Amino acid sequence: MNWLINDRFGMFVHWGPYSLAARHEWVKSREKLTDAQYQPYVDHFSPDLYDPAAWARTARAAGMRYAVLTTKHHDGFCLWDSDLTDYKAPRDLVEPFVAACRAEGLKVGFYHSLIDWHHPEFPLDGTHPQRDVRPIPERDVSVYRRYLHGQVRELLTRYGTVDYLFFDFSYAGRSEWWGGKGPEDWGSEELLAMVRELQPDILVNDRLGIPGDFVTPEQYQPSAPMPGLWEACQTLNGSWGYDRDNLDYKSADLLVKMLVDGVSKGGNLLLNVGPDGRGRIDPRATALLARIGGWMELHERSIRGCGPAEYHPPADCRYTRRGDRLYLHLFSWPLRHVHLDGLAGKVRYAQLLNDASEIRFVSTDPDQEAQNTRMGGQAPGTLTLELPVQRPDVLVPVVELFLE
Ligand code: GLC
Repeated sequence: MNWLINDRFGMFVHWGPYSLAARHEWVKSREKLTDAQYQPYVDHFSPDLYDPAAWARTARAAGMRYAVLTTKHHDGFCLWDSDLTDYKAPRDLVEPFVAACRAEGLKVGFYHSLIDWHHPEFPLDGTHPQRDVRPIPERDVSVYRRYLHGQVRELLTRYGTVDYLFFDFSYAGRSEWWGGKGPEDWGSEELLAMVRELQPDILVNDRLGIPGDFVTPEQYQPSAPMPGLWEACQTLNGSWGYDRDNLDYKSADLLVKMLVDGVSKGGNLLLNVGPDGRGRIDPRATALLARIGGWMELHERSIRGCGPAEYHPPADCRYTRRGDRLYLHLFSWPLRHVHLDGLAGKVRYAQLLNDASEIRFVSTDPDQEAQNTRMGGQAPGTLTLELPVQRPDVLVPVVELFLE
């Protein structure tokens, strides 16, 4: 099993000058800012509290096992000391990130934007902050393509092993933006070949517009397993970059349910944080991650190394499985009994995962009808578990079933 499937849970980090505007990482496009209007954020990007070791510790404590940093977002600003531009942080911020991940035992990932709203030869399109400029200036995408390939080469040759690469994104033919770009513009085939040559074991996403190693549903949970490896990327509050006044936070239990739901369908969760302009993961994010970490501490067994199970779960439940263990996640807590299709005779022992307290089986005769104090028999093959009335005080209770 490759490490990505095993790990299941990673941290996405969106960070750059837009963190100072603190109103979404697309601020330059949304507000059609010129380079000059965006420049104050670049000039004041001076993250005095940048402590990637703290980020890595936060990720690990949340139960995450890999981290993915925006080396460059759509604004074109580079977090590493590129030789190919001056549009970059005053010091290399990627190197200490990589070192911190390694020290914490996290796999290292880079997000790299294909879109670039600063490069002078990136042709205007419907996403571009200067999309209304007329006449549309002549630009030569091949010059930008060389720059893109050169920068990816830098990123994959300077920091040792890079485990994961998230390109973002291709939009040729997408109706919401004119002038969309795709594999021809990026030189995707050639770029991917170079990536594989420089980092033979790297896992690359699917957003070069040609098949990669995994697909990347964004801000939705697939309703069924996606083809091949997949990883949902999700935000805490709808924004990727630090968004000070946005209070649309998901609850900790919803976030855990999203993680469980993904694993039950064979997928991963890449959960985002947007550190602020000083480099700190803000207290709202930290508090949510700590609660997820509290759950993971007790329930890691039902996530790590787990995948889908062949059984059909009861309503409001999700199964995950690893070897002879089947994990029943109860998104809502029923009164005293839960009936498991097709599991009669297949389970040797059951316990609550949070405290290893035994969960006993109830036997009912399939021919017996429900009547006053007597529960009805269930369809043949059903295993009925007897649950305590008190729901365990954890974000999502889990019953661990030891299969015969
Ligand atoms: C996008 C957005 C973006 C974010 C990303 C994460 O396509 O443009 O701002 O970085 O997806 O998946």
